[in-house]
Amino acid sequence: MCGIVGAVAQRDVAEILIEGLRRLEYRGYDSAGVAVVNSQGELTRVRRLGKVKELADAIAAEPIQGGTGIAHTRWATHGEPSERNAHPHMSKDKIAVVHNGIIENHASLRESLQAAGYRFDSDTDTEVIGHLVEQELLTHKDLLPAVQAAVTQLEGAYGTVILDRADPSRVIVARSGSPLVIGLGIGENFIASDQLALLPVTRRFIFLEEGDVAEITRKSVSIYDKNGAAVEREAHESTATYDAGDKGQYRHYMLKEIHEQPYCVNNTLEGRLSETSVLDETFGNGAAELFQKVKHVQIVACGTSYHSGMVARYWLEGIAGVSCNVEIASEFRYRKSYVQPDSLLITISQSGETADTLAALRLAKSLGYLGSLTICNVAGSSLVRESDLAFMTRAGAEIGVASTKAFTTQLVGFAMLVLALGKYNGMSIEKQQELTTALKSLPSKLEQTLELAESIEDLAEEFADKHNALFLGRGDQYPIAMEGALKLKEISYIHAEAYAAGELKHGPLALIDADMPIIVVAPNNELLEKLKSNVEEVRARGGILFVFADADAHFSSDETMRVISLPHIHPWLAPILYTLPLQLLSYYVAIIKGTDVDQPRNLAKSVTVE
Ligand code: M6R
Repeated sequence: MCGIVGAVAQRDVAEILIEGLRRLEYRGYDSAGVAVVNSQGELTRVRRLGKVKELADAIAAEPIQGGTGIAHTRWATHGEPSERNAHPHMSKDKIAVVHNGIIENHASLRESLQAAGYRFDSDTDTEVIGHLVEQELLTHKDLLPAVQAAVTQLEGAYGTVILDRADPSRVIVARSGSPLVIGLGIGENFIASDQLALLPVTRRFIFLEEGDVAEITRKSVSIYDKNGAAVEREAHESTATYDAGDKGQYRHYMLKEIHEQPYCVNNTLEGRLSETSVLDETFGNGAAELFQKVKHVQIVACGTSYHSGMVARYWLEGIAGVSCNVEIASEFRYRKSYVQPDSLLITISQSGETADTLAALRLAKSLGYLGSLTICNVAGSSLVRESDLAFMTRAGAEIGVASTKAFTTQLVGFAMLVLALGKYNGMSIEKQQELTTALKSLPSKLEQTLELAESIEDLAEEFADKHNALFLGRGDQYPIAMEGALKLKEISYIHAEAYAAGELKHGPLALIDADMPIIVVAPNNELLEKLKSNVEEVRARGGILFVFADADAHFSSDETMRVISLPHIHPWLAPILYTLPLQLLSYYVAIIKGTDVDQPRNLAKSVTVE
């Protein structure tokens, strides 16, 4: 999704801005642009449709000078991807603006600004911001109060940076519903939508809060809250790393991230387990007090993160003895829900910035939950900062748009939560010990599973000419089937659906024929025999099956069924293990189909608009 980088410095900043945009590329975008102003007030704007490289090449061919600048990668919401819709947008050749988010009342603002004589050069919602600021400047005579007055007229979400060519000594930034972080340098300061963009120039960051407006000059940062009062926001030293620069031996980030999973899971477990259980501090200060009171859990998330919440429901109710609901964030936030007594709200997110999930958390704060916990991969993200407790997955930066290692480490987080809550809900010491031991053996089981990569690559050939696929699972493997289907459609563009296998005879059996591959996840658990009956239902109707099964599950390959044997694992953790072959299958099918694996069409890594 859109990315922002800005700088106020003495040196030329174009290269810093371009490098920042490169580091935000993984978020997904369709065009990019930069505007730089020098001390004489000469402003140069360059925009390109396509990749940041196109922009960088244009600037290399005709270098631009200036110490104050703003830059943007755009993921189209209003107006097609094109150069004229790319940011920065200008008002009267004076005010330049970049913006993340959506201005919901843009149509009415556009109408009144047009009536006041402003000319619109793009189809974007963003352009109204620049014109509003220019209009307010006529009254307020200074950029800071002009921006403060302009943003009060905006409805929707914005992270925005505004530059006035007449005053190159500063930029004004404003945040509401879309993250912005100020990077503190020595004699220079920066702004970005994600700290990763600024790691080459600083490690000291101030995270702006909702409603903040800030003035950034080379030597100062002044922040005002939503009421206009001057406020101090604490600076943090970042330990974030940007390990995305190098794909190593791998052809794509996604493949690298799939293969990193044993290591990431190990990292996520490290130092958090005792001999028999999980250490409560793993979830943050005050977790033990809160967990003792929890009788119900409400999980809210989107996409792949939602699937991990669905697995967690089976675990929390089946093992920890805590009742649990799971809901898609974009639904939860717009309906009146009943809050069970003694409920804990859990959000799950790789990025920690997903607009719907964040809105759900904010809504839940007024609904009477005991408290909130987020399971998240990005330290300092909005969800982490705004939740009472946080479990940090230690997956490292995930660059591929298709979530892989973030998902499996989220499941590890939930596995630890099962242990933590189970302890307060009568789980025996023996059970805690059994589960802890199983969890510790997980990384090596994942390693063994990845050794199947070659045979899964062969299997992928059989999907290349298919247009549809069906994924089946039962119990806690049903969400894994859903995740497998999401991965396949996301990166190979093959239409895929997932069903709880017991549901087949209620409709989807009608779809079965030799052209519809059926992928089954079949660990050796208490539902195996039931699942085998469902497999027979498919075979009887001429379906072609691809079964990922426990070596002891006694499936055998024949002309209508290909069986891939997975290592034996404690049934509790099978959802994590069985995710890996489905990720690999999607990856290899996408390779055969020649799609853009790391940045699939129309998708963004971090979905910061609703
Ligand atoms: O950053 P989040 O985990 O909150 O993102 C939620 C979804 O947008 C994300 O999981 C999406 O579904 C992935 N592209 C799936 O691979």
